[in-house]
Amino acid sequence: MTQLTKDFDIWIRNDFVELNDRLEAAYRDQSDRANVEGVGEDIKQQLLLQGEQHIEALLAEGNTDEGFDSAFDLLGNVGLYMAACRRHEITEPSRELYSPLKAASALAMHIGSSIGVTPRFATAHLTTHNSAIDGVYKRFTSDPAEQLFIDYNTRGILAYKRAAEALLKIQPLGISHPMTPVLFEEVKRALLDVIGSNQTLFKQLDTESFFYVVRPYYKPYRVGKEVYRGANAGDFAGINVIDMMLGLCRANDVDYAQILVEKLLYMMPEDQATLRECMRLPNLMDAFLEAQTYRNQAWYQESLSVFLQACKLHGDTAIQHHNQLVEKYICHPAKFMASNHLEKVTASGPPLEVLLKQLETLRDKRAAAKRADLETRFADIQQLRSTLSGGGNHASE
Ligand code: HEM
Repeated sequence: MTQLTKDFDIWIRNDFVELNDRLEAAYRDQSDRANVEGVGEDIKQQLLLQGEQHIEALLAEGNTDEGFDSAFDLLGNVGLYMAACRRHEITEPSRELYSPLKAASALAMHIGSSIGVTPRFATAHLTTHNSAIDGVYKRFTSDPAEQLFIDYNTRGILAYKRAAEALLKIQPLGISHPMTPVLFEEVKRALLDVIGSNQTLFKQLDTESFFYVVRPYYKPYRVGKEVYRGANAGDFAGINVIDMMLGLCRANDVDYAQILVEKLLYMMPEDQATLRECMRLPNLMDAFLEAQTYRNQAWYQESLSVFLQACKLHGDTAIQHHNQLVEKYICHPAKFMASNHLEKVTASGPPLEVLLKQLETLRDKRAAAKRADLETRFADIQQLRSTLSGGGNHASE
């Protein structure tokens, strides 16, 4: 890490957080908490200029070839600064055609294109690739709700990744291998961890703090002329590896393929490679459907039973995300928000109803729900259940 990179990192971890905190306190003092216009203008100027000073020096320093990790980390810091400017409406993509943050845009585009990721901060920067110093990792504010949100996003992501890794290990073994049920059990444990951690988040995260102080930093912003959508906890390959390896979602299904194409560059390059690899592999549900002639074999019964339980748990995580987290923290508070702020509610950009439809589609595919208007594996799961010797009653537990 060069001295300039270190200085910027120190600024992001200290003064930057303090300036955001002061602005949050000023917004909180108003009757309309969602308003940021005309509030704390002097603090906004300090934020803008201090960040700009660091970034201009870094831009002049040029590519110092310090390796991927250092470049990715710096991109994250530039991204946090740009996202904060967006949150405080120092920049506003619908107001501008180009980002007024010229040096930051140039640096972000230079780094992003050189390492093969979007030129903005992504989820990994705050979760799985966010180094802590003396127990404190990078954040926008010192609000405890933000830390809680990041902690539990990270837990969820790590658990999904464990499930994905276990599923990928089944590929070279096949469904009749004696180790396959052992691996499915690992998948189940990891998915139960996702459910447990989402449950804690749901119980502990304060709705107002999340809506007014955490979420606004995840809005889309412009880098150069392009608007990049906000980061969300789904920007890692693991969740899609689980979808596709279980066979609940397919890469050649138009709705699902759209999601994969869209999110690819928001992931770390190693995740991009995993996702591409996974798109070429056959899925486990098809393998079970093709193996039905073995239905009287002990391995078939054992393996299918835990497979169906893993599918059920994956569906449960999606139902929980949509019906609990999205409902409580996005839909419900949006109903009470002044209508002039409503169009800015979602992090990914599309209007709330459009976003909710997309998330509903994902939920129902993962849960293999019965939907006449959507391709799901409902009938295939029913078929497989009917081949279980216990009549399949225990398969959905
Ligand atoms: C307060 C908690 C949470 C809320 C309100 C929330 C809300 C959302 C929303 C609205 C989206 C759509 C994209 C966007 O505009 O942001 C999304 C995407 C996503 N979130 Fe969350 N989320 C929460 C926590 C989590 C956690 C803990 C995980 C676990 C890893 C997670 C996993 C995902 C995934 C995988 C996606 C991408 C779409 C998908 O594949 O389902 N979220 N989330």
